[in-house]
Order: sequence, then structure tokens, then C-alpha cells
Amino acid sequence: MSEFSPRVFSGVQPTGNLHLGNYLGAIRKFVALQESHNCVYCVVDLHAMTAQLVHEDLEEQIRSITAAFLAAGIDPKAHIVFNQSRVPQHAELAWIFNCVARIGWMNRMTQFKDKAGKDRENASLGLLAYPSLMAADILLYRATHVPVGDDQKQHLELTRDIAQKFNSDFSERIEKLGLGVEMMVGEERVNGYFPLTEPLIEGPAPRVMSLRDGTKKMSKSDVSDLSRINLTDDADTISKKIRKAKTDPEPLPSDLEGLVDRPEADNLVGIYAALSDRSKADVIAEFGGRQFSAFKPALSELAVSVLSPISTQMRSLLDDPAYIDGVLADGGERAGEIAEKTMKDVKAIIGLLA
Ligand code: TYM
Repeated sequence: MSEFSPRVFSGVQPTGNLHLGNYLGAIRKFVALQESHNCVYCVVDLHAMTAQLVHEDLEEQIRSITAAFLAAGIDPKAHIVFNQSRVPQHAELAWIFNCVARIGWMNRMTQFKDKAGKDRENASLGLLAYPSLMAADILLYRATHVPVGDDQKQHLELTRDIAQKFNSDFSERIEKLGLGVEMMVGEERVNGYFPLTEPLIEGPAPRVMSLRDGTKKMSKSDVSDLSRINLTDDADTISKKIRKAKTDPEPLPSDLEGLVDRPEADNLVGIYAALSDRSKADVIAEFGGRQFSAFKPALSELAVSVLSPISTQMRSLLDDPAYIDGVLADGGERAGEIAEKTMKDVKAIIGLLA
């Protein structure tokens, strides 16, 4: 049975400062996956306008995310780095997926409910259709694996639903045109054009929590800057934020079970583990029984040693915007070649004359 060739795709929105959650949940994994996969990493600028149309600094934000990718260790020559709007097929495939996906699927998305808030009628249509564009991002490259944080899980399930409905609605044409790849869906062997993409969410910090409240996700939009570590924070700021991070009065537990119901302790141990490429069990084995007054300085030192070189490199890359624009243009060209081929196939499958 022929198989989809493995390909990784992921994206980050150019809205606001990147923080430790974005780094540990996504970008650090992007870097590691370069060793084993062909990777496509995208600054998803079309997504940025779903919640807010006008951004004064969109260009700088796009460059800043690109700089973060490169500074963290993504190789734009061996892999592909580009911004979404350069490749028009993202929007084109998203339109087709708008006609594949059902309104009920979109209405169920918790991120839509959170972002639209109480005044749903006044949210942009783009915010509702957002997951359909996200599915298009991924499936335009027929990507098999998508590294993301835990908050994107539901969007990836929807991406699979869209792929599956497209494959099944057009199964005869896909087969007739010889464009399918055989795959197993449950017990059934089917011929599909789009893969059922696997999310890569695991690891010790799939959901990094706020430093001020271990039950809330670390987020760009939190009003308190003390709640997050930004990738651009200097060493003193990182240390201050970790020193002030909320904890409970108990020492660290001696086993993983002891982290249950201690969200702040669990979060800091997860962060330590992810930053040092170790498991939480390993970190507990080293620090179990110690007070936070001993653990926090170790965590600060580790965070500064990992993040400082990235922010220094980001700053120096941002001094040369022409270089960044060149990386995006080159990546966009190579992404465009793959995208063009997929859209040609999709049009043939649907029956659009091209
Ligand atoms: P975005 O831009 O909000 O976030 C980028 C990545 O960071 C992860 N993340 C976190 N991980 C752990 N803990 C946290 N506190 C945390 N906060 C954010 C996100 O899960 C994400 O992986 N919809 C996406 C962008 C997107 C995309 C795609 C991703 C558009 N198209 C296709 C993958 C594939 C988003 O808004 O991510």
C-alpha cells in the first residue's frame, strides 16, 4: 500500500509577542522535527485579521515571527519558511473547504466561542471560518504531522473531518483520476487524496500555564505581563517573572502523583522539563522534596540559558529586514510550487476547468 510521504506543517499568527507557551508548545518542536522530516513553517498572516482587521504593525509582526523561527534554529534553506498570504492557494483551498465543512462543526469550536464572546453576531465571518483556513494551510501541503500546543487539538480534529469528508465525497473521482493514496480509516481501506493529519502535541509542556494562575493558559492577551515570559524578555525580566511566579507553600513532591491538584507546581516542573528536554518524572527525581526557593533559581538559570541566545539572535536578525524578506520570498516560491500542484489536483477532482 503506497503511503503519504511524511511532511510537517505548522503555523504561528503574527499577533503580539511570542511567549514561552508558543516556544515550548510549538517552535521548539518545529526545530527538533527538522532532523527527521521535511518541514513547512508558516507565518499565518491571513489568520491575524480574523479577530482584528487593522493592525498598525503587521509587517513588523510578520518579520518578528520569522526572526523567532530562524533564531530558534529553523533552517530556511533545508526547509520552507514563508508567510501565508504570499501563496494565494491557501485562501483558494479554504474556500473549497468552506463548502466541505458544516456550519455546525464551526459553531462547536471552543476557540471561536472564546474569541467571539457574548456578541457572536458581531464576530467576523472569518473568525467562524478560521479552522477551515487552518485545514487548508495543512492540507495544501498534504502534511501528515502538525506540531502544535494543546489548544489547537480541536482544530486538528476538524482538519481530519474535512479531509475525510472530501476524500469520501469525491472518492470515485479521486480513484478514477488516479490521484488517491490508499489508507486505512478505522477498519476500512480507502483511497484518499488528503491524509488524515496527526497532531504532535505530546511532551512535558503541551499547555504552558500563566505564571500568575496555574489554571489559565499562558497567553499573549493576558493583561498581566508577569503572567508570561516573552521571547524578547531580557535575563533580569525572566528571573523576576519566575521569582514572582505563583506557587503553593509545599515543597516539590517526590513523585508525579504529587503534582495532581497543584497546578502551579505542575506548570513550573513541566516548563523545566521541556526546556531541558527531560521528562517531568526526571525533574521530580532531581528536585523532589526541595522548596521553590531552591527550584526557582535553577529554573531561572535554565530559562535564561535557553531563551537569551534566541532573543539576542532575534534582535540581530530584525536589524536586517531585507534578509528576512528574502527568506520569506524564497520560502514562498517553494511553498507555491507544492500548493499549485495540490490545487491543480483538487480542481480536477472537483470538476473545475482549469
Ligand atoms: P497561535 O499563533 O495562537 O500559537 C502558535 C502555537 O503556539 C501554541 N501555544 C501554546 N502551546 C503551549 N502552551 C501555551 N500556553 C500556548 N499558547 C500557544 C499553539 O498551540 C500553536 O501551536 N491556529 C494557530 C495557527 C495556525 C496553525 C495552522 C497551526 C494557523 N494555521 C496550521 C498549525 C497548522 C494559532 O492560532 O496559533
